[in-house]
Amino acid sequence: MPDIESLLSEKRVFKPGKDFARAANWSKKDVAALRKDAAKNPTRFWAKMAKENVSFFSPWKKVLDWKPPFAKWFVGSKLNVSYNCIDRHLEGKNAWRRNKAAIIWEGEPGDKRVITYGELHREVCKFANALKALGVKKGDRVCLYMPMVPELAIAMLACTRIGAPHSIVFGGFSADALRDRIADAGAHVVITADGGYRRGAPFALKEAVDAAVSGDSPVESVVVVKRTGQDVTWKAGRDHWWHDLMAEASTKCPPAKLDAEHPLFILYTSGTTGKPKGILHTTAGYLTHVTTTFKAIFDIKDSDTYWCTADIGWITGHSYVIYGPLANGATTLMYEGVPTHPGPDRWWDVIERHRVSIFYTAPTAIRTFIRLGDEHPKSHDLSSLRLLGTVGEPINPEAWMWYHKVIGGKRCPIVDTWWQTETGGIMISPLPGAVDTKPGSGTLPFPGVDAAILDDDGNEVKPPDGGFLAVRQPWPGMLRGIWGDKERFREVYWSKWKRKGTYFAGDGAHRDKGGYFWIMGRVDDVMNVSGHRIGTMEVESALVSHPDVAESAVVGREDEITGTAVVAFVTPKANVLADDGLAKRLRDHVAKEIGAIAKPKDVRFTPALPKTRSGKIMRRLLRDIASGKETAGDTSTLEDFSVLAKLRGDED
Ligand code: PRX
Repeated sequence: MPDIESLLSEKRVFKPGKDFARAANWSKKDVAALRKDAAKNPTRFWAKMAKENVSFFSPWKKVLDWKPPFAKWFVGSKLNVSYNCIDRHLEGKNAWRRNKAAIIWEGEPGDKRVITYGELHREVCKFANALKALGVKKGDRVCLYMPMVPELAIAMLACTRIGAPHSIVFGGFSADALRDRIADAGAHVVITADGGYRRGAPFALKEAVDAAVSGDSPVESVVVVKRTGQDVTWKAGRDHWWHDLMAEASTKCPPAKLDAEHPLFILYTSGTTGKPKGILHTTAGYLTHVTTTFKAIFDIKDSDTYWCTADIGWITGHSYVIYGPLANGATTLMYEGVPTHPGPDRWWDVIERHRVSIFYTAPTAIRTFIRLGDEHPKSHDLSSLRLLGTVGEPINPEAWMWYHKVIGGKRCPIVDTWWQTETGGIMISPLPGAVDTKPGSGTLPFPGVDAAILDDDGNEVKPPDGGFLAVRQPWPGMLRGIWGDKERFREVYWSKWKRKGTYFAGDGAHRDKGGYFWIMGRVDDVMNVSGHRIGTMEVESALVSHPDVAESAVVGREDEITGTAVVAFVTPKANVLADDGLAKRLRDHVAKEIGAIAKPKDVRFTPALPKTRSGKIMRRLLRDIASGKETAGDTSTLEDFSVLAKLRGDED
């Protein structure tokens, strides 16, 4: 764990501002008391949070049923997520929120929509009825493949209203990736749009859906939002315009009373081996986790305008663009396009115009803006901001300092939040009115989260040693399984250590003497590119599916902007010309198979790959070569030393 030394030299500490601390939803005193209670009895803590933050139609009989690795939370209770996100803001003491903005949406071309809680209720009920009219029933999976438009939020909430789990596929994924995910989830209905806007031009989505559902597919209905007005091919009987279905739908749709463990959604994410895994989240635990963490970590007030820049196709968008904010009755801003269109100041312009007060983004974006120059944020009034957050990858202390000074005007606390698709909600983060921050550290686990750093044998390592990040107690937002694959669930997350029920996160980390956590990145074969997970295996499978490729190995190397860049070592088939043309064709092929995010930055050709005698590719060596390092470490098991020299370009 070589980064430990350098990180430990970080001595800067930032205390919450006095005014912020005084008005915080969770004060220092509250946090101390909650931590104490939660440490004694985490289940009791989460039960208290559920009572405070979530509305149930009927109460639970048991808080937790834990048969490692299978957990059930709030057993026996009934509730509905869309009721929690909408209806309860229209009733009783919260009824004034009917005309409060639930969603402020801005399209990339500059078009805008504001949807109040009252309107959201109408739209969600209507679309829930439209889904019913298409034959969608409780338990049926619905696939959403959409741009960042309000209809995406409406579709998600409509699914939750009738108990149809959604499976959202990021709009940047290819038709092939979409086909696999539709098949795995067994979805009969796909919701999409004709297209969306990115970098000033429309891109197509319906076209990819047509390709993904052609031939043998479970899909019976495709619902299409008209966003760009571009031409689409149409299959009568299967395809329906969103606006046609909505025109006929009733505005009355009582929320289904669902079981605490009713499946809420599936979200696919990359793992070390094989195909992407369908991570399953359920109703009561997930909602308790995201609602509580959102309220405490983002310190939400009714006067705030909150903006999380994540695409809803990723977990951050699920938990902290939609469910966490709406369950708290907050105003959440959704933006459709890229950060730099029409100019490099687009985001700062959005913040100024909408008076955004809480802003949550990824280190990759921050590093991009650092490179673009301070003049862009400085040309806008960012004084409305009072709290900043980051997520998705480790943030280097210098980027943290820039965020603090240039965006936060030195007055905004920064919450560096560590969590994963699998954890459902934030696990490690500062509480902004109560916890001192250090640039680059996620600080401390949320109360009720038993995070620890363990060695190979499962013993807790002493600060400042590095080890594997683990969670030793179940938490409400935890994944309940991998869709359709119980064994893989057990094996991937719960089998690293002998002690039953210890969750292996796949990240390396260490703690400093003050107990603060410092995340050092993935310890497995998952690359974190711009905060998005891509398995090396997935890219390798895409490459070898190309007719000119015999074998390939993919590794990550450090990249100043994206955190990690994908590097592919490729052995072409005999008689194939390995030139720049082939490299380009292979990059395009990966984009077609998976999506543009997985495109290798470098493609390096080699007549053979370095392997151990047992035939395992020596990735450590390849990682060193990819990053231009002298190959260090033990090469005694290397099958063919000449391969190494060739890869480095010593011969040729
Ligand atoms: O490596 C960690 C990194 O992102 C991984 C989870 O990726 P994903 O499931 O796509 O979810 C991303 C958004 C929650 C983790 O295993 N990661 C996430 N947040 C942080 C982080 N690494 C360091 N610091 C963070 N704050």
